[in-house]
Amino acid sequence: MLTFEPTGTHLGATVRGLDLSKPLDAATIGEILRGIGKYQLLRFPDQKLDPAQHRDFAAQFGHPPAIRGRLAIFTAPGVAEINILSNIVVDGQPTGATDAGVIWHTDMVHNPTPGFANALYALKVPRRDGKRLGGTEFYNLRAAYVDLPADIKEKLKDAYGVYTGENYTSIERTPFPEYGTNSHKAHKKEPVRHPILMTHPISGEKVLYCDPGHVDYIDGVPPGERDALLKFVLAHIMQPKFHYVYDWTEGDLMMWDNLSTVHHAVLDFGPDEHRLIWRCQIEGDKVFDPAFLARTVDAVRATA
Ligand code: OGA
Ligand code: MN
Repeated sequence: MLTFEPTGTHLGATVRGLDLSKPLDAATIGEILRGIGKYQLLRFPDQKLDPAQHRDFAAQFGHPPAIRGRLAIFTAPGVAEINILSNIVVDGQPTGATDAGVIWHTDMVHNPTPGFANALYALKVPRRDGKRLGGTEFYNLRAAYVDLPADIKEKLKDAYGVYTGENYTSIERTPFPEYGTNSHKAHKKEPVRHPILMTHPISGEKVLYCDPGHVDYIDGVPPGERDALLKFVLAHIMQPKFHYVYDWTEGDLMMWDNLSTVHHAVLDFGPDEHRLIWRCQIEGDKVFDPAFLARTVDAVRATA
């Protein structure tokens, strides 16, 4: 039986009773989606997955894109959708990407249909003096929306975040050194616009969808207020009350909602403290398709 144990904070639940290496039926997919709609981040402990099983799990919730560009060398053999995040060096050669999550961001914001989720699977977790390192930290964009002052909600009601691919900035809104000068990154995407007050496709609730690392500006507000509103929105999101740190355990498959959270890697471990995580992204094609939700989430609601 599937059970959800909430963390007791504003984000996250642990899901037990599932072996993710096997295909899920529509009702179980619906329950998981409902869980994501409610808790935004789901931890499935004690999983045993190979890269193809990891990819196939993710594909049940949306298209898992193949990893392209400079990270394509860090994929699982024969499974181009599984990106290896690792600081392990063998014979002087890196075995994985070390710069995922160095800025606060959400994944796949540059897609015309914004990306839905990430599913990460932990194989090695760094520890020092028994304490786990290398967590992933989040801000909760749903809670941030609820807490927005009414006059700001009004100002943002027809506003869009514009994403051109030109900006890769840090929390302080200054270019992150490594990306600021990286022409490979600049202009890499077609510009897209997403509503700042986005309705979440699963929960139907509003979220304050704004990616601190990638947003260029806010459109749909008086031009004189653009900069001040963007500053306000980002400072509002990044408040301690919306913050949450996820500490990994080996065997965790953790799926987070990219639509209602932003994330960042906690870079508190050294080169000899090994972290190995497989990563699979999940696009928004399925969750923004009402027919898919009808077959899964709504079917569960009908019997709940
Ligand atoms: C990602 C990412 C952060 C981390 O996988 O998209 O940003 O903690 N990862 O590894
Ligand atoms: Mn990311």
